[in-house]
Amino acid sequence: MTDVAASTAPATLDVAAVRAQFPYLERPEGIVYLDSGASAQKPRAVLDAMHEFGGLHYANVHRGVHRLAVEADAAYDGARATIAAFVGSTARETIITKSVTEAINLVAASWGAANVGEGDEVVITQMEHHANLVPWQQLCLRTGATLRYLEIDAEGRLDLDQLDGFLAGGRVKLVAVAHVSNVLGTRNPVAEIVRRSHAARARVMVDGAQAVPQEPVDVAALGADFYGWTGHKLYGPTGIGVLHVRRDLLAEMPPFLTGGDMINVVDFHETTWATGIQRFEAGTPPIVEAVGLAAACDWVGSIGGPAAVIAHEERITAYALGRLAEIDGLTVVGPPEAAGRGALTSFAFEGLHPHDVAEILARREVCVRAGQHCAEPLHRAMGIPATTRASFAAHTTTDEIDALVDALREAQRIFA
Ligand SMILES: Cc1ncc(COP(=O)(O)O)c(C=O)c1O
Repeated sequence: MTDVAASTAPATLDVAAVRAQFPYLERPEGIVYLDSGASAQKPRAVLDAMHEFGGLHYANVHRGVHRLAVEADAAYDGARATIAAFVGSTARETIITKSVTEAINLVAASWGAANVGEGDEVVITQMEHHANLVPWQQLCLRTGATLRYLEIDAEGRLDLDQLDGFLAGGRVKLVAVAHVSNVLGTRNPVAEIVRRSHAARARVMVDGAQAVPQEPVDVAALGADFYGWTGHKLYGPTGIGVLHVRRDLLAEMPPFLTGGDMINVVDFHETTWATGIQRFEAGTPPIVEAVGLAAACDWVGSIGGPAAVIAHEERITAYALGRLAEIDGLTVVGPPEAAGRGALTSFAFEGLHPHDVAEILARREVCVRAGQHCAEPLHRAMGIPATTRASFAAHTTTDEIDALVDALREAQRIFA
């Protein structure tokens, strides 16, 4: 908790100093990377930490007594503590997974299968990434529970009265919601959703994939039962995700994956399980990746912390919204104002297909994402087949937004 409190102290991001730490910016092409929402670039500190650990201190964890095994244990356990503290959680409530997708599947397969049955309801929202939709859809199909959707309004926001209506029925077992939408940029009122859901005895799963890279997150203060996020969007490596589970729930959750490291006693015909988070980490974990993700957490702290990152990204988002509004025929989806919005803009361009737009932008080395961004039902709900998304990071500058706007005007000219 102290780390989170420290990171919320006002600090200004030195963007030039931040940019100097990203090797991709040394390439001669002048790449304008506006695709951090899909995956963030890696600063040197993260690459170096993984290189040094992998070269000098590497061994498998939790099963050796030799020098390297002891060093690897210390590094892995230390990384978990750093990762947990970064978001106001504790190591004892922090499960390392492969991705946030795996984290959500873990909750659905373990807690979900044990607690959700016929006649129950699971509530999610229309704005969910497939990672926080398909596991609940499949759980409901398997168990006979009903999946209900909170709708978005014209500005991409939720209506909590609708949530109250669902909760009033008394059948809701779980509410699963994105902290920040990866398409709309909507920042959902998670603490309030948790408060209302808990009052109705429903559990809450938060998908923090887009929130953790962009803002100070305090999992304990939010009160969510399950909070998942993913390493590669926080300037860390791929292959690692994080799931925070409230300690009192861990004991009632059956294993997700079974095998080595998650057991207590194994006999020929039966097995007993390890307790706590250990039960959910079957097999060799992503050790080097955990070291890399901890380095990414430290790196964000070193540039001013999440409070400085969000202040910078809100300025960039405000600038982007203003510049994009200058382009005829372009419609940004999601909340119209930058304050309280995630650091990304998705837009539809009248008469132009998002893939054509992305192609023209790529010719100018402007990297954006086109398509449905793993949120097909959301695009259906908006009545838009696909969008182009520009997403921002600590290294994004207003010059890069200008480059985006110039390239969009060129796309408009080419396809006119
Ligand atoms: C909101 C949201 N949830 C979940 C995911 C899935 O992340 P991963 O592929 O790392 O599991 C993403 C990735 O784009 C996302 O933006």
